[in-house]
Amino acid sequence: PDNGLVRTPPMGWNSWNKFAGKITADDVKSMADAMVATGMNKAGYQYINIDDTWEADRAADGTIQTNNKFPDMKGLADYVHSKGLKIGIYSSPGGKTCAGYEGSFGHEAQDAKTFAAWGIDYLKYDLCGARAIYESTLENERGLYQKMGEALSQSSHPIVYSLCQYGDADVWKWGSKVGGNLWRTTGDIRDTWESMDKIGFSQIAISSYTRAGHWNDPDMLEIGNGGMTPDEYRTHMSLWSMLAAPLIAGNDLRSMSPETSSILLNKEVIAIDQDKAAKPVQALSTKGKVETIWRPMEDGSIIVGIYNRGDAATPANLPWSSLPAGYATKHVSVRDLWKHEAVPANGPAYTASIPPHGVALLRIGAAK
Ligand code: GLA
Repeated sequence: PDNGLVRTPPMGWNSWNKFAGKITADDVKSMADAMVATGMNKAGYQYINIDDTWEADRAADGTIQTNNKFPDMKGLADYVHSKGLKIGIYSSPGGKTCAGYEGSFGHEAQDAKTFAAWGIDYLKYDLCGARAIYESTLENERGLYQKMGEALSQSSHPIVYSLCQYGDADVWKWGSKVGGNLWRTTGDIRDTWESMDKIGFSQIAISSYTRAGHWNDPDMLEIGNGGMTPDEYRTHMSLWSMLAAPLIAGNDLRSMSPETSSILLNKEVIAIDQDKAAKPVQALSTKGKVETIWRPMEDGSIIVGIYNRGDAATPANLPWSSLPAGYATKHVSVRDLWKHEAVPANGPAYTASIPPHGVALLRIGAAK
């Protein structure tokens, strides 16, 4: 099944990484305001997603209710829509969510209707609460996701379906069959280099499962949350874009430093993520701690990312002759997507010193 949504990876913001259980409706409103004020909406960020902890117990007729942090979900959705943005929400195939709130088990169709009535545009559906209610067979897990997938497909309102089950049971092989638009491929990201590096580089091998409308999701961005250096955050943004991962910011958009916004708003990097061809990223070479990957773009150019996973600055040397066939010409046009400048291409190779945990990201076109 294909609902026709998210032809390029979804972009937006989610409350969990920064706020966890503390998120309120007022925060969500001000985040929508900030998405417009910062120009993130113009750069492609569109979804404002509420994660876990908005739920209250069900009414007598089974209708899911909101708790006092979210007194009027329909009003909130209307507000977000009035800014030209879309709104997302969170639930679980289990009886309880990961944080112990009310889940959708046994109420899938009813909840899908409620979400549609509120005007919800995106649902993140998180497994962990379901572990208590089924024996962990692929069939049952898949069945639970399929139930909500079917309910959403019958919805009066188009809703992006985001599966969250941490890469369980090779979800990239079946996520689209239960109606998923994206599926988490890993455990939760943390705001550390170790976590981001481990998740990011583990994804290249499964990149071929990602395609228009159906995306691998290596979890949300930590850019701007303070646990990594600017170079590490540039690597985070560069790697997620090379993977065609959803770009769901997880920081406080109301108080971004100029450096954080320069990373989240780098249009030349976003363009990689959003490239319409959605071709998989591939390994080019590994030299010590320097990992070079590449991805073809719709316009015939390629992106090469030279990542230094080591703890010391390292010289990179990329002979033009080592580029994939068709690009291995001496006279290529090369652009540095973080420095926003042309790179001289008349020598035999690209050479630079890559900072620890840093990246050089190049867009390479055919000879002009
Ligand atoms: C899980 C998910 C997180 C977040 C929390 C909420 O850990 O992987 O992204 O949604 O649950 O409880």
